[in-house]
Amino acid sequence: MSDQVIIFDTTLRDGEQCPGASMNLREKMEVARQLARLNVDVIEAGFPVISDGDFEAVSTIAREIKGPIICGLARCVSKDIDAAGAAVKAAERGRIHVFLATSKIHREHKLKKAHQEIIRLAVEGVTRAKGMVNDVEFSPEDASRTEPEFLAQVVQAVIEAGATTVNIPDTVGWAVPEQYAAMISYLRGHVKNIDDAVISVHCHDDLGLAVANSLAAVKAGARQVEGTINGIGERAGNAALEEVVMALKTRPDFYENIHTGVSTRELLKSSRLISRMSGLMVQRSKAIVGENAFAHSSGIHQDGILKKRETYEIMDPQEVGWGGTELPLTKHSGRHAMVIRLEHLGYKLTDAEIGNVFKRFKEVGDKKKFVYDDDLVVLVDDSILETQEVWHLDYIHVTSGSSTIPTATIRLKRGEEIMQDSAPGNGAVDAAMKAIDRILNQRGHLMEFSIEAVTQGKDALAEATIKCDFGDGRLVTGKGASTDTIEASARAYLGAVNRVLGNGVRKSDAEAQP
Ligand code: KIV
Ligand code: ZN
Repeated sequence: MSDQVIIFDTTLRDGEQCPGASMNLREKMEVARQLARLNVDVIEAGFPVISDGDFEAVSTIAREIKGPIICGLARCVSKDIDAAGAAVKAAERGRIHVFLATSKIHREHKLKKAHQEIIRLAVEGVTRAKGMVNDVEFSPEDASRTEPEFLAQVVQAVIEAGATTVNIPDTVGWAVPEQYAAMISYLRGHVKNIDDAVISVHCHDDLGLAVANSLAAVKAGARQVEGTINGIGERAGNAALEEVVMALKTRPDFYENIHTGVSTRELLKSSRLISRMSGLMVQRSKAIVGENAFAHSSGIHQDGILKKRETYEIMDPQEVGWGGTELPLTKHSGRHAMVIRLEHLGYKLTDAEIGNVFKRFKEVGDKKKFVYDDDLVVLVDDSILETQEVWHLDYIHVTSGSSTIPTATIRLKRGEEIMQDSAPGNGAVDAAMKAIDRILNQRGHLMEFSIEAVTQGKDALAEATIKCDFGDGRLVTGKGASTDTIEASARAYLGAVNRVLGNGVRKSDAEAQP
């Protein structure tokens, strides 16, 4: 058995199923490019049948991203499998991932199908996928709650039909490590052709055990782990890949040198990118990538660290991307210096996009002494929207104070079109949002709002992230950055408005999701 664990990233599929995390094509491409730099083995890029947007994202990623296997998800239904096959066709290496539920509760209540019917459908699905690609993965959904004997029959049948990976999902996060590991061992002992396929695991975090379950399964012989960056995903999320990867790397003594091919120095950058793209912030104390993951506050710990780092640090922070040296730009830096920096950060921008980023860079450079990499990354997100045919914030003026009614005046621009209005509000941010609503004759309800300093210092850029409902129950994310917090908030709101008006929000986040 190989001692390398295949890392299967499903941030763009299971991760994106998280309400309000849906990304547009440009955002997905940025994430996919970063996942390739991170050197994951497989990118599950989406669920092609679910919408035209998902199909386009998977096929564009398949065409443009080199290195990892590009995978598309499909139910055991011909139209799903055909869509997944077509979407991954252009990939250097494409994979179709078919799934069908096998547990008693899903068989009886969701599918209303008997054992033999499930096996027949699973085999038909794998056979159809195999007609399009060589690399086929099968997932018996809710495997961890499936009777082991029946699970073994299904697994054996799909391997006979040509599945090259069998994934054993803990779909509802019900498993505990010893039991889940025992299930993997049971399959290894009872499925006669099990060595013809890679055993994969896919754990959800409903009991906070997704990473522990994944690692227990690796110890028991699984050689593919599925998960997401930052653990984002359906409900409580999926196994956080950065944690799985670093646990294997940090404890070779226990995991007997089982390793991954991940470039761990890209982990922090990946985490931050996915936070920004999905609008889902990482808690400060999150392992590996949280702000406090390597911060030592107690005097005893600090003293120990100064004497020997390993006294209180089990990983070198630089190994996961913390503390890289960066040469900040200033307002005097030219376009070329900025472009070089952007290339170093992995951006491939068009001339028009570079023009917009440079304009924002100069504006910000006038207000703050240094423009750091983190600032630049936020400016890119913020200004690329301006390249598209959407509303831009042309002007904002806000009056506020303890004895005045906060009022905002906003001017918006789209191409040659200019509109302006003012509105009072329940605070400056509310007033700015209401002014935008008045101009565009709409009404957004703010469901979530957060604002964070991108870097340190009083002149730091603020990045606002909001999630709004524009009346149809969908959560739409917007982000905006500025040295001024009210302007950052207005930009974030406008970002959400533009998404709804112009691009990229799925028709139904719930439709056909596994
Ligand atoms: O959680 C799950 O069971 C899934 C499958 C589609 C693998 O996401
Ligand atoms: Zn899942």
